[in-house]
Parts: sequence; structure tokens; C-alpha cells
Amino acid sequence: MNPEIPRALAVLNGQALSPPPVWLMRQAGRYLPEYRELRAEKGSFLKLCYDSEAAAEITLQPIRRFGFDVAILFSDILIVPHAIGQDLSFAEGEGPRLAPPLKEADLASLAPARHHYDAIWETVRKVRSRLAPDKALFGFAGSPYTVATYMVAGQGSKDQADARLMAYADPARFQALISRIEAETLHYLSGQIEAGADALMLFDSWSGSLAPTEFERWVIAPTARLVDQLRARHPQTPIIGFPRGAAEKAPAYARETRVSALAIDESTDLHFILANTPDTLPLQGNLDPMALKAGGEPLSRAMAGCLEAMAGRPHILNLGHGIDRFTPIAHVEQLLAELRG
Ligand code: CP3
Repeated sequence: MNPEIPRALAVLNGQALSPPPVWLMRQAGRYLPEYRELRAEKGSFLKLCYDSEAAAEITLQPIRRFGFDVAILFSDILIVPHAIGQDLSFAEGEGPRLAPPLKEADLASLAPARHHYDAIWETVRKVRSRLAPDKALFGFAGSPYTVATYMVAGQGSKDQADARLMAYADPARFQALISRIEAETLHYLSGQIEAGADALMLFDSWSGSLAPTEFERWVIAPTARLVDQLRARHPQTPIIGFPRGAAEKAPAYARETRVSALAIDESTDLHFILANTPDTLPLQGNLDPMALKAGGEPLSRAMAGCLEAMAGRPHILNLGHGIDRFTPIAHVEQLLAELRG
């Protein structure tokens, strides 16, 4: 294997490697003391996202400390609604707020603010120029449906009821919103690739709350259009789809969206995925973040189960969802020591 090609990219191009390359969702964040320090200094999370020097530094922090195979851009899926024209804030302890919520306001009333993308693209350029050639830089965005759930409700919600209701009650209005997010995301992700992102990940964190026909219409169809358009512009850039909670719908998602790889959450049975997707489809996941937080023997067992199931398959080891902010650093070190032998 060419040592200059990042191991994670070799896997995304179909190679099975042992041990598999590894990174962790939310690896740049609050469980790291060096992140908390920078965050305290700069004040707010959103400020960090738009400060390309700080964001590049944060993106690189977990690579320096742990030597992960992948650097994931430090940013947020809610940059797209901000650029579409909603006000965005992260209230301490309350999660994100978007105003006005689109259940109460019209999309047409928002004033676009596309300049917000510039700082994020600048972060990508900075990180790629500072990152070792054997490490991959992943860009990302939310998938249209998940982003829509925040835009409609104006905040996170337990069951995404506002967006799901709009999708049934006023499908034309919901479709217009999905189409707009799709177009913005195409522009935003194309810019990330042009700035140096080696691969992309589409986070569909809330796709699991949809009924099957709704999943086809609001998750699979928009994602397929986005993947086709990105691929037409940038045929070499792999795209990882993460339809969190899709469960038995994940194989159809992979087939119909034509993503390059499938990320799997911790609640999904790997053996079901292995039996129902082509052997050539690269997979990412799916350690339980709580097994990592627990550490010790439970973590060892979870790792062994995942690695054994994935043996021979193109696989990037990751969590099934983001790392919990109170996860001990020593448990991440344990994971890496056991992986690398
Ligand atoms: O994975 C990484 O390290 C890269 C950066 C990244 C962040 N958010 C940083 C972040 C990525 C890929 C995301 C994606 C994201 N953001 C998703 C999809 C993935 C998932 O977790 O399901 C979603 C739903 C969001 C929206 C969002 N952003 C929420 C719900 C929150 C939590 C709010 C809170 O206060 O806990 C955020 C904030 C956020 N995004 C933080 C980080 C490091 C915490 C910021 C802080 O307080 O310092």
C-alpha cells in the first residue's frame, strides 16, 4: 500500500485493513482538556466555529494527542441554517436555538448569509496544509432531513414532531425546505472538497424517527440527489452516509443513495448489516459510546465483538454516535492500545 495514501481513504476505496483505521465522532470536543481550555478562552462554541485558526487547532488536537487516522472538521451541522438566514445560538446547557422557527415563519422571509461558509472553508484549507499526508481530513454536513428538523422546531427535540407533522400536513412546504437545504449543502460541501477535504460524511442523526414511506421520501430521495450531484462534480471524493437509527432500512438507504460507505449506530446489529449489504461496501462504526465511557472489560468485549464481526470487510472503527463529554481520556487510550496491539 502506498504509505502516503491515508489508511481511511484506502478503506473507503474498498480495501480491508487490519487493524482498521480509527476515529471517533465528536473527537474534537468537551472530553478533551485542551478543547475546554480554548473554549473558555474564546467564549462561545459558535465563535470557535467561525474562527478558522481556533477551529483548525481544535480539529488537530485529537490527532496530536491520539494519532487518530482521520481529522474531522470542527464545525457544526447548523452552519447551513445560519447561512440560509436563521439566527443561530448555543445556549449553555440548552443546546442549539434557531430563530425564527420555520413552523412559525416562511423560508422566503429569511435573508441569506452565505458568507458564513467562508470561515469554515478556510478552516479546511488550514487543517489540510498542517495535517500529515497519511491522515485523512473528513468534511461533513447534516443531511437535509436532520437539518430540517432543527429549522422547523427552532431547536432540538425528542421526537422531531414539528418537522414530521409539517411533512404530512403540508408536504409542498416541507419539500421546498428540503430542496433548499439540499442546494445549500451541495454548495457548502463542494466548497469543503475544493478547500481540501478528502472525504465527506452526511449526518442524518434523526432519520430513525421516520415511518418507512417518509424515510424513502425525506431521507433516501434527497440524500440520493445530493450524492449524485456531489459525485458529478467530484467523482473521487468518497461520501459516508450515517442514517442513525435507520436499522432495517439501512441496506436500502445504502443501495438507493449510492453512498460510498455506511456508518452504523450502536443499536444496529452488525450481522444484519453484513448479511444485507454487498461485501464491497465499506462500513464505519459501531462501538457503543457507553462501552467507551465504561472502559475496562466491557470496552474490551465491545471492541472484540466489533472487530471480529468486521474482519475481512473494509471497515473504519468508530463509535455508533458521538463520544460522551465525561468519557475518561484513559479509556480512549485503552481503545487505541487494544486496537494497535
Ligand atoms: O465530530 C466532531 O468532532 C466534529 C465536530 C462536530 C460537532 N457537531 C461539534 C460540536 C460534528 C460532526 C457535529 C455534528 C452535529 N451537530 C450533529 C450530528 C451528529 C450528532 O451528534 O447526531 C448534530 C445533531 C449537531 C447539532 C448540535 N451541535 C447539538 C445538538 C449540539 C449539542 C449542544 C450541547 O450544548 O450539548 C451541538 C454543539 C456541539 N457541536 C458541540 C461540539 C463540540 C459542543 C459545543 C460546546 O459546548 O463546546
